Amino acid sequence: MIHISDLHLTDLSTVRPQKIRGKRRLGHFSWRGRRRYRHLPAHLEALRRAVLDAQPDFIVVTGDLVHIGLPSELAVAANWLAALAPPGKMLVTPGNHDLYAEDSWAACEGHLGDYLHLSPSSGEAGEAPFRRGFPSHVSLQLGAERHTADAKGTTDRPLGCLQAFHESVDGIELYGLNTGCPTPLGAASGRLGSGQRHRLERLMKQAPAGALKVVALHHAPMRGVMPGRKALIDADALEALLADAHLVLHGHGHWSRSYRCGAAQIFAVGSASTADAAFRQFDFHPQEGTVQVRMGLHVRAVDGDGFGLGEEAAFSVSTGR
Ligand SMILES: [Fe+2]
Repeated sequence: MIHISDLHLTDLSTVRPQKIRGKRRLGHFSWRGRRRYRHLPAHLEALRRAVLDAQPDFIVVTGDLVHIGLPSELAVAANWLAALAPPGKMLVTPGNHDLYAEDSWAACEGHLGDYLHLSPSSGEAGEAPFRRGFPSHVSLQLGAERHTADAKGTTDRPLGCLQAFHESVDGIELYGLNTGCPTPLGAASGRLGSGQRHRLERLMKQAPAGALKVVALHHAPMRGVMPGRKALIDADALEALLADAHLVLHGHGHWSRSYRCGAAQIFAVGSASTADAAFRQFDFHPQEGTVQVRMGLHVRAVDGDGFGLGEEAAFSVSTGR
C-alpha cells in the first residue's frame, strides 16, 4: 500500500481572477504568488513514475488534489488519478482545498466518483451533503492466497499483497474520513461532525476479529499538531475513537512525520509535488494475532527526479486475535 497526499496538481494560469469571487479570489492570488513555484508538475510526474515503479496493490490519497476546488480543477485531478490506478486500487479522501467553496462538493462527487468509495445510504437528517457518504470503507484482503510458489519453493509474489473488497474480509479494514469543508477566509481547518464520527465508531466495532484497522483523513487527527487555523476542530472527539484503530494516515501539513495517538501509530506524508515530494510505502505481513508492518518513506532526491529511501521503520501491530 502506498500513501500520497497534497498533490495540488492543477495550474490556474487559464483561470481569470476576475471570474472568481470570495475566498477563491484570495486562493488564486496565493497560487500566483507562492504556490505555483512550490508545487511543480515535474515533481509530481517524478512521483507518479516512482509510485508506478513500486507496483502498489493499493494507493491511499489523503486530499488536497487541487488548489481552490473549482469543477475544472477536479476534472483534471480525476484524469491524473485515472492515469495512476483504477478506483478499485485507490481510495481518495478530500482535503480543505478540494472543498474550498460551496459548489466544490458536487464537483468532487461528480469527478472523483468511485475513487471516494462513498458508503451508500449513510448520513443523518440535516447533515451536510459532503459528510453523508463518509466514512468510506474498503476491505483489503491480505493476499496469502496469492502467495504462490514454484517447484523450487521460491515465491513469485510477496505476502502482503492487497485486494480490495467492499464487504468485510479478514485483512485490512480501511476507513476514509472527510475532514474538508468550506471555511472562512484565512482558515484551513477541518471538521468531521458527529454523524461521521458515530459511523466510524460503529464501523470499527463491526470489523472482523483480527483485522488491521486503518483510518485515512486529510487533517491531523490530534489537537496541537497543527496551528488552530489549520486544525481539525473536533480532534478531541476523534482521538477517543482512535483507541480502536491501529494505523492512521494523513496529510495537510506538507511534512512527513510519525507519532502516536494512544495505541494507534500515525503517519503523515509530505506533499507529492514539492521539491521534497514524498510517498510512504507499507508492506503488511500477517502472523498469528499480529501484523508485521514495514514502512518506507521515499523522498525525491534534490539533485534529480529519482526517489530515495528517507526513513524506514518496522513494527508489530497486535490485532487482538
Ligand atoms: Fe490541506
